[in-house]
Order: sequence, then C-alpha cells, then structure tokens
Amino acid sequence: MDSSPIRKAFELARTIENPINLSIGQPHFPCPPNIIEAMNRAAIDGKTAYTLTAGIPELKEAMAEKYQIQNGIEYAKPDRILVTSGISSALFLLFNALVNPGDDCLVVSPYFLMYPSMLKFYGANLLTVDESFTSEELSVFSSKKLKLIIYSNPSNPTGKVLSKEQLRGLANLAEKTGAYLISDEIYELFDYDKQFYSIGKEYEKTITLTGFSKTYNMTGLRLATILADEVVIKTLTTLQQYTVVCAPSITQWAGIEALKTDMSSYIQDYREKRDFVYDSLKAHYEIQKSGGAFYFFFKVKDTDEEFLQKAVKKKLILVPGYIFSPSKHHMRLSFATDWDNLKRGMKALVELASE
Ligand SMILES: Cc1ncc(COP(=O)(O)O)c(C=O)c1O
Repeated sequence: MDSSPIRKAFELARTIENPINLSIGQPHFPCPPNIIEAMNRAAIDGKTAYTLTAGIPELKEAMAEKYQIQNGIEYAKPDRILVTSGISSALFLLFNALVNPGDDCLVVSPYFLMYPSMLKFYGANLLTVDESFTSEELSVFSSKKLKLIIYSNPSNPTGKVLSKEQLRGLANLAEKTGAYLISDEIYELFDYDKQFYSIGKEYEKTITLTGFSKTYNMTGLRLATILADEVVIKTLTTLQQYTVVCAPSITQWAGIEALKTDMSSYIQDYREKRDFVYDSLKAHYEIQKSGGAFYFFFKVKDTDEEFLQKAVKKKLILVPGYIFSPSKHHMRLSFATDWDNLKRGMKALVELASE
C-alpha cells in the first residue's frame, strides 16, 4: 500500500509559510462545545472501560431513532446497528469479512481512495463505473457475480449527490448480482440542494455507513455506525471483538449528544462557500457544481502533479486527482476552510488558469 498522497499534501503544507491549504478533508469549525462537555462528563463519571463490542445500547437506540426519523429507514433498530471506530474501521471489518481474492467489486468513480486501496489489499478485482452512470451503463455489470458495490454519497471527491434513480439502479444491480450494497453516507448532512436520499429506506439489504467525523468535526474521536441486517451485524461484531474491540467509550457518549446538535448554521456557511467557489472558478475551469460534501473536483490542462507544483509556488495546496480516479487531469479542492483562506485560494486559482 502506498502511503496516502493526502498525507503527503499535509506534509507539504507544513513546509510552506502561511499556506492556502485547500486539501483538508475535515471541517474547519471546532467540534460544538456541548459535545465536548458530554465527552468530558463521561470521562469524569468513570465511563472509560471497554464497552459492549457492538456499542453502548443508548447510542444504538439513538441511532435507530435517527435512521428512522432522518433517513426514513423504518426497519432500523438497535440489533441491526454496530458502533465502530469511524467508517475506516467499518470498511476494514466489512472487506475483511466479505471479500475473497478474485471477487469482483464495483466502485463508483471517482472514489474515496480507501475503497480501492483496501479492496486491492484483500485481493478483489476492481470494476468501476463513472458517477454519471445511466441505467444502460449499469446493465453491463448485471451478468456478473459481484461481491459488493460501494460508493460515497455525497461523494468524496466530487461532491456529487447521486439521484434517486441512480441509487435505485444500484440497488437493482445488487439484487440481480447478489452483491452487498454499501452506501457510505458520511457527508449526508452536507447536502446543499436537498437532494440526498438514503437508499436503505427502500432497499432493506443496503449496508448503510454513517459517520460522526465530518458532521461534528470528530475526526480524531473515531465514531461511526453500520446499519445492516442482523446476520451481517453479528458477523462484523464477532470480527470487531477480536480486532478493534469497541469504539472509544467516551466518544460513544459524545455521539449521543452530537445527534441532538443543530448543525444547520455550519451547513449554511458551507453552502455559501460552495456557491462562492463555483462562481469564482466556473469561467476559468471545467467544473461541475458540487451538490454536497465540501469538495470540488475540477479539470486542469496540465497533469495534476504538474498543476500541484505550480499551485505550491503560489502557496496553494490541493490534492491531485489521480488518487480518486483514473484521470490525471483533475484536482480536488476542499472548501472546508475560513473565508480569508478561501478568497486567497480562489485568487491563486484564477491566476493559475491564465498562466
Ligand atoms: C467518503 C469517506 N468515507 C469515510 C471516510 C473516513 O471516515 P472516518 O473518519 O469515519 O474513518 C472519509 C474520510 O475522509 C470519507 O471521505
């Protein structure tokens, strides 16, 4: 496994004085204080021991309610939920349990880099379909025996929110091919045009991944949940028992408080930033308007690595697109930053477009 190029961008940023860092995949706002207080309280109350492997019942109940009310998933109940140490850990459990060498796995592209890297690690045979897929384009896979289908919705790195029709197409394909459908919904709240839909609402075999990292700036606290049928949950729980053991205890208590926190003002700030980036760049680059998450994935004339070198000369750090797709002519930009940084970044990008 190659060490993550995103980390390399991070290292690069450290060597530049006052960099314009638009490479970071986490919110720039602090974790809301009520969540921190809940975590502190849990620590002071001595809730520092191992928890049940599948997670504390109070969080699983709160998540079941969240899935029912916010995602419209009526069958959600605590026995179908596993609490994990972030979605990264959920992916590890899932791929470890499900994937055998040679299995065909379909990944919607551009993709979160952990999917292909980890799938390859488990010996999977990777198939990709572009996120703009139509039902005809999906039908070429229907005669295959797919082990799993995975995507992030909204997408890291493009901000694309898949349409209901597309999601139904993936669910139909999963049903036909016997694939597990894995829906990574870590950016679900960052849905600027109210387009996000959980396919788990209508396709009960969906494995829905929900994360706390991005929504509440809890990336370092490691918390996520998997909603799936009882057989999958039981298997993954056994595997978690022998590996990760449990998600951090005090973080789980913080998660309950997080679910009660209104994040709408933060989302509105990012919606304005999304609009600002698009309006600043649309005349200068081939760029699709992002619908969610906090990224744009835009085309450049140079190769991505060449463009990065030129950008760095202007103190600007972005992530080269090759790690998210077969294209070597895209850059990922994160607008999860403050206004001053974002304005400096747009100025640098407009200048770069005319060089
Ligand atoms: C699509 C997607 N899934 C999962 C993760 C990892 O999330 P976690 O912090 O929950 O491990 C990320 C982080 O960048 C992501 O972008």
